[in-house]
Amino acid sequence: MTILVTGGAGFIGANFVLDWLSAGDEPVITLDKLTYAGNLESLAAVADDHRFRFVQGDICDAALVATLLAEQRPRAIVHFAAESHVDRSIRGPGEFMRSNVDGTFTLLEGARAYWHGLVGDDKSGFRFLHVSTDEVYGSLEPGDASFAESHPYRPNSPYAASKAASDHLARAWHHTYGLPVVTTNCSNNYGPFQFPEKLIPLVIVNALAGESLPVYGDGRQVRDWLFVGDHCAAIRTVLAAGRCGETYNVGGRNEIANIDIVQTVCRLLDELRPSADGPYERLIRFVADRPGHDRRYAIDASKIERELGWRPAETFDSGIHRTVRWYLDHGDWIAHVKSGAYREWMSRHYRQAGPTP
Ligand code: NAD
Ligand code: TYD
Repeated sequence: MTILVTGGAGFIGANFVLDWLSAGDEPVITLDKLTYAGNLESLAAVADDHRFRFVQGDICDAALVATLLAEQRPRAIVHFAAESHVDRSIRGPGEFMRSNVDGTFTLLEGARAYWHGLVGDDKSGFRFLHVSTDEVYGSLEPGDASFAESHPYRPNSPYAASKAASDHLARAWHHTYGLPVVTTNCSNNYGPFQFPEKLIPLVIVNALAGESLPVYGDGRQVRDWLFVGDHCAAIRTVLAAGRCGETYNVGGRNEIANIDIVQTVCRLLDELRPSADGPYERLIRFVADRPGHDRRYAIDASKIERELGWRPAETFDSGIHRTVRWYLDHGDWIAHVKSGAYREWMSRHYRQAGPTP
């Protein structure tokens, strides 16, 4: 028995692979293109583990997908691979359509052909787990009920639209062809190995370098934060017991405004790594807002809690503490990530974002 994980060198995929191998004996094959967001250093702890195999490749490569499935014969595919950063999707949506829409289509077609050839328990036990986001549901007003699985799809960014398209493909491949698909829609993750273009690691990494902490607009946008290990546990639970054709929303009921997140991280750093120049909050800068910025996300996770018994293990306090500690202890990982390509993105994006008029 083995599973195939796409995007396993990214933030959540790497956490999933590490957790998977420490939780059981089953091997895992990772297929990842190693875009700017993919990082083999995040998988260094399992590089020599005989149960781990890494294949560098593109999910849009139908021949590679077919060969991998035929040779490795996984009992499940856990599909993380995607372009994942909203700001990049605004500046260049093309890659999002290719990897997120075309890539998911290619993978579903490969899975369908492979699954078709399985028999007996191998066929009935096969799963395609499609990992998605709460951003497909659009934006909530203050006081609106959280996103349940029945909430209409109203994606607002190119990223969200590409993920919504991939969710629709996954749904159709189940409905039309019977492919055993299960989908998860999770809220914002944070934790170890997150690329520092996303809010929480960006604030930690910039603060430690004495650089400004950019807050878009008024900073009152709300996200619903979940520690990455809790997301990985939810995916394992859905893989083991989720019903085919169903979607499961995953979230930690941690609605927090961006400015509060930034201040919390600053205070933790003041405590754990005080700066001689004074409190880190001095570095906060309000900058021009993201175009089409969604105001609020919130997940109603009652279905996965009720049906599958999943609950998050971390509170936001414990999770953010672990996360800040991890970045403080992994200066090498940060230094290697801050390569030329990363610096180029930071200077281009934030120069154009500019300060709030
Ligand atoms: P990430 O950007 O950190 O990693 C994505 C990984 O996919 C990288 O390793 C990259 O090299 C790989 N990849 C990209 N295009 C590929 C392609 N065409 N072929 C093969 N590999 C490719 O992303 P993440 O934050 O780990 O997110 C993983 C998944 O979880 C995504 O599908 C995302 O939509 C979803 N998700 C993320 C969050 C979050 O808060 N980060 C929340 C909910 C859902
Ligand atoms: P991000 O981590 O990019 O995740 P997402 O856009 O998928 O929710 O951003 C989280 C929130 O933080 C979002 O409301 C945008 C905001 N944000 C900033 O205020 N400044 C920044 O530099 C970044 C990257 C994000």
